[in-house]
Amino acid sequence: RHSEWVPAASMGNDEIIRQDLDRLHDIPLYKTFVKGWPQVNAFQARHDDLVIATYPKSGTTWLSEILDAIYHDGNLEKCRRDAIYNRVPFLEMNIPGVPSGVEQLEKTPSPRLVKTHLPIHLLPASFREKDCKVIYMARNAKDVVVSYYFFYQMAKIHPDPGTMSEFLQAFMDGKVAYGSWYEHVKGWWEKRHEKWLLYLFYEDMKKNPQREVQKILKFLGKEVSEETVARILHHTSFQEMKKNPSANYETMSAVLMDHNLSPFMRKGISGDWVNHFTVAQNERFDQHYQQQMAGSDLCFQM
Ligand code: A3P
Repeated sequence: RHSEWVPAASMGNDEIIRQDLDRLHDIPLYKTFVKGWPQVNAFQARHDDLVIATYPKSGTTWLSEILDAIYHDGNLEKCRRDAIYNRVPFLEMNIPGVPSGVEQLEKTPSPRLVKTHLPIHLLPASFREKDCKVIYMARNAKDVVVSYYFFYQMAKIHPDPGTMSEFLQAFMDGKVAYGSWYEHVKGWWEKRHEKWLLYLFYEDMKKNPQREVQKILKFLGKEVSEETVARILHHTSFQEMKKNPSANYETMSAVLMDHNLSPFMRKGISGDWVNHFTVAQNERFDQHYQQQMAGSDLCFQM
């Protein structure tokens, strides 16, 4: 069963497609998500919920697939039971004609995996009150901005991204959906020593997925055989996920995502930014980056 996200024909499409962003407190966000915020803010967590938190384009889907596979002890049949966006509901997602993230989660049996892109200060209070664990994954800014640029084009909820140069400026100014990458990664980083939080990096997961999966298992207090870990790693490799309809978003309505403009599973590598930044853009970006990250001990491999 692959239940699709298909907004009812014509219903709400005008409200979704290529709209300017609204604001949720201090961050730019899709209008319909802002409308749904009261339900998200009042969300009732369960003590065994696990939150997967990321800035967009940082490996959310990858981490989600890994966690769903861990939660099902490497049973790949079970992992294929539905599309990733239904297996791991997106907390603040609110699109007319489609069950909202909150509605999906209310129907999801425990233990639930919950996806969010919210900055730490906007995470609904209930998650901390119930002492839920959170896994955060960060990815270097340059690869995020490139991935986001292609995503803005294919996922039609976004405004027109303009040229790469214009989009770079919007990203540096924190004027893209979910706001400043710098504030997002630093905000979560400040809590990295809390026992409820595991802070991971996309680049580490690329380099040594086995070691990162072991970190996750330890954090969750789960034991899984070596053979199962190997099966999970194979199942969640970029090549496997790209061809897996329950992981690659190809089941999502073409109204919302156009894979002809850019596939959701685009390249899945570290360092693709070198193919997209000009020398001048890179210098400007580096200079701005230094200012934004000054005083922080958070370091990225680029
Ligand atoms: P690229 O656009 O650089 O290819 P998110 O899930 O947070 O939206 O992130 C999407 C990015 O993660 C895309 O990056 C996508 O290709 C990459 N990705 C998805 N699955 C992956 C995997 N198994 N291994 C490596 N990268 C993956």
